[in-house]
Amino acid sequence: MALTQEQKQQYTEELLAYIEELKATGEQGILMPVMQKAQGLFGHLPLDIQVLIADGVGCPVTDVYGVATFYAQFSLTPKGDYIISVCTGTACFVLGAQLVLDEVVKELGINPGETTADGKFTIQDTRCLGCCGLAPVMTINDKVYGKLKPADIKDILAAY
Ligand code: FES
Repeated sequence: MALTQEQKQQYTEELLAYIEELKATGEQGILMPVMQKAQGLFGHLPLDIQVLIADGVGCPVTDVYGVATFYAQFSLTPKGDYIISVCTGTACFVLGAQLVLDEVVKELGINPGETTADGKFTIQDTRCLGCCGLAPVMTINDKVYGKLKPADIKDILAAY
């Protein structure tokens, strides 16, 4: 969901206040918490926000970019309302996760890491979700779907 100008202004002020708050503690290593805060507020970290963070924290923007692209918790592009994570960990892979993932890709017409044009779905490739007994597994936001077959995907997605 795109932010309004007012929301963007409000979140920017909130982020700057948070940076000042952390700086006032004198603690080192404030980049990660600042980036987590920004990700939570804006839903992703576009270049202008990376620059804002770099200026605020006092580090090169390349450091912010490096962290943003290294950790899966950060995203440079907006994510959809529904995040679909298809597990391709070993247990799921052995039981056909790739076929499930292929079916999700086919149904939505996007690849893992991408978001549908209407901003509704994002597909994520994920390693072990911790419920291997249900393999192959996928989640849509917090809901878990287990023992999946490619034929199940169409109906599951239609419910959203
Ligand atoms: S490997 Fe898929 S849940 Fe563990």
